[in-house]
Amino acid sequence: MIDKYNKLRTGINISKICYAHFNSLYFESDGTIKTCGAKQYSLGKYPDITIKEAWEGETIKDLRQEMENGLFPDSCYLCKTQIKEGALESTFARFHDIDKPCVFPQIISFECSEICNLKCIMCYNNRQNKIRLTNQSNNIYNDNFIKELIPIIPYVKIANFYGGEPFLNPLYFNIWEEFVKLNPNCQIQISTNGTILNDAVKKILDKGNFNIILSIDSLNKNTYEKIRVNSDLNLVLSNLEYFLNYCNIKNKKLHLVACFMQQNWQDIPDLIKFCNKNQIQITFNRVWHPENNVLYNSSSDLLNKIINYYKTVYLEKNTTIEKSNYGKFLEIFNQTIIWKNELLEKENELKKYDNYSNNELIDVLKMCLENYNKKNTKEINYLKVYELIDELIKQEDTDNNKRLILLYYLKLPPELIYSIYKSGCY
Ligand SMILES: C[S@@+](CC[C@H](N)C(=O)[O-])C[C@H]1O[C@@H](n2cnc3c(N)ncnc32)[C@H](O)[C@@H]1O
Ligand code: SF4
Repeated sequence: MIDKYNKLRTGINISKICYAHFNSLYFESDGTIKTCGAKQYSLGKYPDITIKEAWEGETIKDLRQEMENGLFPDSCYLCKTQIKEGALESTFARFHDIDKPCVFPQIISFECSEICNLKCIMCYNNRQNKIRLTNQSNNIYNDNFIKELIPIIPYVKIANFYGGEPFLNPLYFNIWEEFVKLNPNCQIQISTNGTILNDAVKKILDKGNFNIILSIDSLNKNTYEKIRVNSDLNLVLSNLEYFLNYCNIKNKKLHLVACFMQQNWQDIPDLIKFCNKNQIQITFNRVWHPENNVLYNSSSDLLNKIINYYKTVYLEKNTTIEKSNYGKFLEIFNQTIIWKNELLEKENELKKYDNYSNNELIDVLKMCLENYNKKNTKEINYLKVYELIDELIKQEDTDNNKRLILLYYLKLPPELIYSIYKSGCY
């Protein structure tokens, strides 16, 4: 599959499987600076280190060294898995394919605040009894941060703004003003839930050239509003028209993005048909977590149902956008087949625990994590990882539900449990 992936990367020197450590910086809400959204490494914390120190420090140099042999290191588990499963266009690594040497980062991503007006069920910002690895402070990113950005902005080719909700973040408005002044040709991509369209938003959109990435997980009002708690589908669809019109006038792109989950798999074909009708490109977020939403570790029965339904779906493939959207559909369809086959095996394996008590299952899970800990990742003690799972178990009131959580984690490869832990998504 790596060969197939590399064939797709035309015009790129494929000696490196990913260029994130060479061209990107990613700012998280607690100050953590990383190179990519898979969130596996920390270059240090802003403002303890400056942006320049993060970009030129020893940690990033070591990471770059690790990427020199053309393979994903073990720590890039999420991208490695996406490629193994054939989701070649949707893997994070693909977004970093700029191989021109650069003195400053060419891709900058901002996830500087968790402030949001919605409470989407899958969003790690909204986990019940949320456990973050670190505490967020609202004053980390201030005017000094913008001052540090100013010399970098003219070199940035792509700037991504995530959230919380970007249109609720005053810091972003100030950063956008600087981009408009210093680098009007930069591709600025704003990921929005589509609910905020006030005068301030319209004013900044008018001043600059922004690409809009709009999150809509279903066109079924009931399903959409169950997922995107506090949102209103009619309002978002009306705002979508404004954004579409804006992008057409400015010759910019509007993308629709949807999480592919237990709650909305039935609605994905209609969502794609809607995108085709409006000539909008769709992308799917791979949902690795939380357990109530993910498909890849759900059940083989459910995945079989999805496969049978998707087999009956017909999608147009005439225009470039329709072909791209069909390609994205095929990616999730083929992934579902792979997940189903893997789950069937795991479900059979787990039968050996049928007579185990919950306490015995806890011991087995701890042992799996400890073994992985000993062999691979010394920096995180397995008991810390188990503590987070234990929190989830405690939130369940019946023994049977506690057991389901334990079995869920026993089905996951330990490296993935550690990756999710490191990403802070619990
Ligand atoms: C965190 S949101 C921030 C931007 C904006 N608030 C929005 O919803 O588009 C960025 C993207 O992450 C997606 N997302 C939320 N929870 C996710 C999860 N558990 N796994 C994968 N993607 C997720 C959202 O659907 C959205 O497309
Ligand atoms: S709108 Fe975006 S940031 Fe807000 S809760 Fe939903 S996914 Fe999370």
